[in-house]
Amino acid sequence: MNPGYEQHLEWVKKRRSELEKNLAAMFPEPAELSLEIGCGHGHWLADFAVAFPEKQCLGVDIIGDRIERAEKKVRRAGASNARFVRGEAFEVLDLMPRHVRLNEVFILFPDPWPKKRHWKNRLFSVKFLEELASRCEAGVRCHFRTDHDPYFEWAEEVIAEQDLWKRDREAPWPFERETVFQNRADSYQSLIIVKQ
Ligand SMILES: C[S@@+](CC[C@H](N)C(=O)[O-])C[C@H]1O[C@@H](n2cnc3c(N)ncnc32)[C@H](O)[C@@H]1O
Repeated sequence: MNPGYEQHLEWVKKRRSELEKNLAAMFPEPAELSLEIGCGHGHWLADFAVAFPEKQCLGVDIIGDRIERAEKKVRRAGASNARFVRGEAFEVLDLMPRHVRLNEVFILFPDPWPKKRHWKNRLFSVKFLEELASRCEAGVRCHFRTDHDPYFEWAEEVIAEQDLWKRDREAPWPFERETVFQNRADSYQSLIIVKQ
């Protein structure tokens, strides 16, 4: 095997093992979470946690300094029910202790990857919905919002391609608070899906 590739595999293994330990330390007991994926600097989740002190909230973002800022924000807000972890969404879903379940999920203004050759990087995909479903009971809702119309259409197509989640057009958006990207958007669209 090429030594550069071997080194890369070692690095991935180490990163996954650190994330797994981190998540195990965060959730030593069974837990039911409100999860925000791609939480950025945590503005939305900090306010959500203050509004719903009875909910255990977890924000996930792949960028470390965003997570540090998010942690400061919830400390300032006094929201002890919100925590954050640096990690890639698929890896977090895969490596969370099995006794952690999701009660609700929020994906707000995910990176749209507008160029066709980058579509494979879009978070919202059939594979993602399968991974998410493995952590959710029937009835759990996943909330998706984007200002990028082609990504919204893509999300609708993804939903039509699988049976684990169905669109719920009646469900109300449970909490309104402008995110950083929402504030910059001229308009946006939302959809809610429910685990079957
Ligand atoms: C466009 S920003 C939106 C941030 C925030 N939700 C908002 O509305 O202001 C997308 C965020 O998702 C994070 N992100 C992108 N891909 C991710 C992944 N695979 N796993 C976790 N976070 C991811 C990025 O680091 C970034 O902070």
